[in-house]
Amino acid sequence: MEFDIKDEATLKRLFELTKKAQKLAHVPYSKFHVGAVILTKDGKEILGANIENASYGLSMCAERTCMFRTHLLGYKKEDILCLALVGDSTEDYAFPCGACRQVMSELLDLDCPIIIFNQKGEHVDETVRGLLPYSFTQENLK
Ligand code: THU
Repeated sequence: MEFDIKDEATLKRLFELTKKAQKLAHVPYSKFHVGAVILTKDGKEILGANIENASYGLSMCAERTCMFRTHLLGYKKEDILCLALVGDSTEDYAFPCGACRQVMSELLDLDCPIIIFNQKGEHVDETVRGLLPYSFTQENLK
């Protein structure tokens, strides 16, 4: 699949997929829907959404459900083109939380593009490294 983060058609597709993923969110407590999608080099579009729990601390973010699904489908970091996400915020961006950034540093390449949309379809383009500089990774355990 041709992938160009600056290509308008690709960005439009990514935005549509994150909005589609938002509809899968289970958010009876916060009512804040987050949708995420990972594109793989072989053309798969893997959706994730936040899934909350009555025991609040057990809630899981959209980015992590998306990365875990991708991992369990057998994809490795080198198979992944990008991760995109959107939250309910209209003007503002819902940036990934610290826990998701740490999981990104484990399951995604540090240079993997992370595209953060707001509800207007405007976006901020980051990378895992940009979101989590000086990350603690497997390399530190050697
Ligand atoms: N949330 C995400 O899904 N991703 C983030 O990076 C930030 C927060 C979810 C968790 C919770 O279900 C809701 O947004 C409100 O915090």
